[in-house]
Amino acid sequence: MTRKDINVLFVCLGNICRSPLAEAIFQFKVAESGLTEKFYVDSCGTGDFHIGELPDERTLKIAEKNGVPINHRARQFDSDDFELFNHIIVMDKSNFNNVTALDGGKKYDHIELMRTYDENADSIEVPDPYWGGLDGFQNVYDILDRSTDNFLNSLSQKYGLSN
Ligand code: 4NP
Repeated sequence: MTRKDINVLFVCLGNICRSPLAEAIFQFKVAESGLTEKFYVDSCGTGDFHIGELPDERTLKIAEKNGVPINHRARQFDSDDFELFNHIIVMDKSNFNNVTALDGGKKYDHIELMRTYDENADSIEVPDPYWGGLDGFQNVYDILDRSTDNFLNSLSQKYGLSN
């Protein structure tokens, strides 16, 4: 479980498309920066319909095409995650509302939308690619690639990490 200096959780709805890809890309950048020992990275979904499943085959295909290893089994967000993770990064506003609905009235300030870190954002949401084709997954990859770059830079500054 989460026992590193900085614990990051990416959240979407099903935990088979967007958030496992965000987790994989971010973990890859962390490793490239020599910061693996500093970070615990995980992902989950607010829904329960894919618990225990591997990522969607299109997620696996896009990760492989872009040279990013991906290894995850879907799990559902749990209210313990509020305390276990320093940063909870959600993909869209619906995920944000689903997560904050479980906060027991606490106004946590460590839940953020992924695309607040996307300098090219035409929307504040990472679009759900589930009902579309493979091009939608590559679009999500490109969004997450930009966003996780900026997110890692921001954490590096915040925590005084050298990368
Ligand atoms: P994700 O995409 O939230 O990015 O994992 C979805 C996966 C499954 C479903 C919806 C979105 N679904 O309805 O089963």
